[in-house]
Amino acid sequence: MKGVILHGGYGTRLRPLTHTGPKQLIPVANKPISQYVLEDLRNSGIKEIAIILGNIYPEKVKEFYGDGRKFGVNITYIYQGEPKGIAHAVGLCEEFVEEEFVVYLGDNILKGGIDRYVKEFSESDMDAMILLCKVDRPELFGVAKFNDEGKLVGLVEKPKTPPSSYALTGIYFFRRAIFDAIKRLKPSWRGEFEITEAIHLLLVNGYKVGHQIVEGWWKDTGTPEDILEANRLILDDLQGQIDGVVENQSSIQGRIAIGSGSLVKSGALIRGPAIIGENSTIEGDVYIGPYTSIGNNVIIRSGEVENSIIMDGCFIDIDDRIIDSIIGPNTRIILDAESKPSGRRFIIGESSQIIF
Ligand code: TTP
Repeated sequence: MKGVILHGGYGTRLRPLTHTGPKQLIPVANKPISQYVLEDLRNSGIKEIAIILGNIYPEKVKEFYGDGRKFGVNITYIYQGEPKGIAHAVGLCEEFVEEEFVVYLGDNILKGGIDRYVKEFSESDMDAMILLCKVDRPELFGVAKFNDEGKLVGLVEKPKTPPSSYALTGIYFFRRAIFDAIKRLKPSWRGEFEITEAIHLLLVNGYKVGHQIVEGWWKDTGTPEDILEANRLILDDLQGQIDGVVENQSSIQGRIAIGSGSLVKSGALIRGPAIIGENSTIEGDVYIGPYTSIGNNVIIRSGEVENSIIMDGCFIDIDDRIIDSIIGPNTRIILDAESKPSGRRFIIGESSQIIF
């Protein structure tokens, strides 16, 4: 079976983070979201993978994944450009795929992985198989419709009145019949070619469409809140490992991973689960609280950080507490109480958020 990772889209809900790179490369527990996807495919035995590129810094995706060898897979890049819809992206893979294939949205994480579903689909004669997850707000997703006997009879994209609480996750298994269905689509009210509609077409035209309810959690990381939640969920399973230096008088509580070259100075308190990358420094008075991911080459000189993602190269020297935050690479946050006139000084790009 071959795999397709969708790495396009605009990621408008994640601006300003997506002004400098695609959302799928945002790190969660210090690893890009789409790397979880790629590793899930690889761990299920799928080594031939196409990555669909959009217009938001596609070169950064190529630079990170290369030909895939570093990750134990073989990658083909397919350029989509403007995000004309998930079905449009899938339609571009007609030459790449042979018989059966799996499409995985590059910003989705499935805790249990797809291994069992890959086997189930390969051994079946289904034309498509979707993975469903019970959610609190189905109106935000594609939603499954069942008849009284519990048979899947339809799919609707973001319905005002959801026919069930079962949302389509961003993982779809297909055989070639999907390409004909995609060719019959017209753009939806939001101007996209909807994969939900293509699968619905298969269903109502008598093709075999199976479904599975996923076990464990599934996370679609479209918004900042989703990213922080995914970070918490991944850190919940973190294995503690200290490769850096932790000075004697510092306190490390719970599961913490600290990369090589990093230094936690005497007096610092780190309460896990938390991860610190390589060559980062946590100074003496600092408190790092649960569910925090700190990247490489970060310096936290003073202050407290909790339930947050601090990306590579940041410098934080603030006699205050940072919570529920996502801080992009190479950001500096400094408390400068001495300089006059007193006040807050900002140099902040478009679509940033500051909440005091
Ligand atoms: P979305 O989250 O629906 O779209 P988006 O990335 O443009 O985000 P926003 O709404 O914040 O602007 O996309 C779901 C996933 O599918 C995501 O990983 C991006 C990918 N995608 C493509 O690769 N091509 C497309 O044409 C679309 C619509 C999405």
